[in-house]
Amino acid sequence: MNAGIIGIGRYVPEKVITNFDLEKRMDTSDEWIRTRTGIEERRIAADDVNTSHMALAAAEKAIADAKIEPADLDMILVATVTPDRPFPSVACMIQEQLGAKKAAAMDISAACAGFMYGLITAKQFIETNSYKHILVVGVEKLSRITDWEDRNTAVLFGDAAGAAVVGPVSEGKGILSFELGADGTGAKHLYQDEYIIMNGREVFKFAVRQMGESSLNVLRKAGLKKEDVDFLIPHQANIRIMEAARERLELPVEKMSKTVHKYGNTSAASIPLSLVEELEAGKIKDGDVIVMVGFGGGLTWGAIAMRWGR
Ligand code: UT7
Repeated sequence: MNAGIIGIGRYVPEKVITNFDLEKRMDTSDEWIRTRTGIEERRIAADDVNTSHMALAAAEKAIADAKIEPADLDMILVATVTPDRPFPSVACMIQEQLGAKKAAAMDISAACAGFMYGLITAKQFIETNSYKHILVVGVEKLSRITDWEDRNTAVLFGDAAGAAVVGPVSEGKGILSFELGADGTGAKHLYQDEYIIMNGREVFKFAVRQMGESSLNVLRKAGLKKEDVDFLIPHQANIRIMEAARERLELPVEKMSKTVHKYGNTSAASIPLSLVEELEAGKIKDGDVIVMVGFGGGLTWGAIAMRWGR
């Protein structure tokens, strides 16, 4: 039994904050932000829109896209570091709102690698035939834990949600291989106190190394070569980090997803959000080999090689 993605959905808040808006609030410039990060604008959720609202909106779309009913869900996994409150989990909140009565539900805390952790956890239940339909959501309201006085972090982040329904797919399709990892000794480089605290340079070095290595590892585990890759979906933190991963895989520019300019770094939401956008743009086709790779606070990382399609 192979596990694959059978439905997807996304939600982004309406409110756009451009680099020029930030120039008015802090000592920064559009030029600095664009050249150092690739970010041009980001979406910020309204005060009364919480993480669970965004998760629900993306989840409803993914469930409809999978052509199942909420009652068909066996499990809900929500990857987030910005839950509405410490408990109950966002997963339990949307379980109720969806009416997914038989679904087990929990949140996953793995920062920007959270969606990878969620997909790979879901895969285990599907492939052992324990469960048939698992909703995995990556969602963040990072604006709530961003220090808007700190130009080192405030220019980087945005709010969004992306969701996928994971279920059985035909042989040769779905998740072909994965890698998960963590290094708690690096926790000091990226964490939340009241707000996000980050040593950007240290995270940058770790990310460049890890994104490339994990991508190559999942290819090797799947028995694939660099030239077999049709599309790369890296965590959208910084265009320079993403470019480094693309170069390790020797892929042309058009084979890498880029949404960071529109949404900034949306942490756990960034990979599923990009996946939805690339599918809508027709850049991923049935049978394509895609590599998804993420890294984040913890430190954590995760990568997947998959063959797209049901
Ligand atoms: O999802 C995981 C989350 N985190 C990340 O992915 C972050 C990874 N790191 C990065 O993306 C980059 O390190 C940053 C974008 C955060 C910073 O880029 P950098 O090229 O590493 O810049 P830097 O930290 O070396 O800073 C260069 C200069 C500094 O000034 P001095 O000390 O050289 O005078 C900063 O104070 O840029 C200054 N600076 C800014 N200037 C204008 C830092 N932030 C800003 C800003 N606007 N927003």
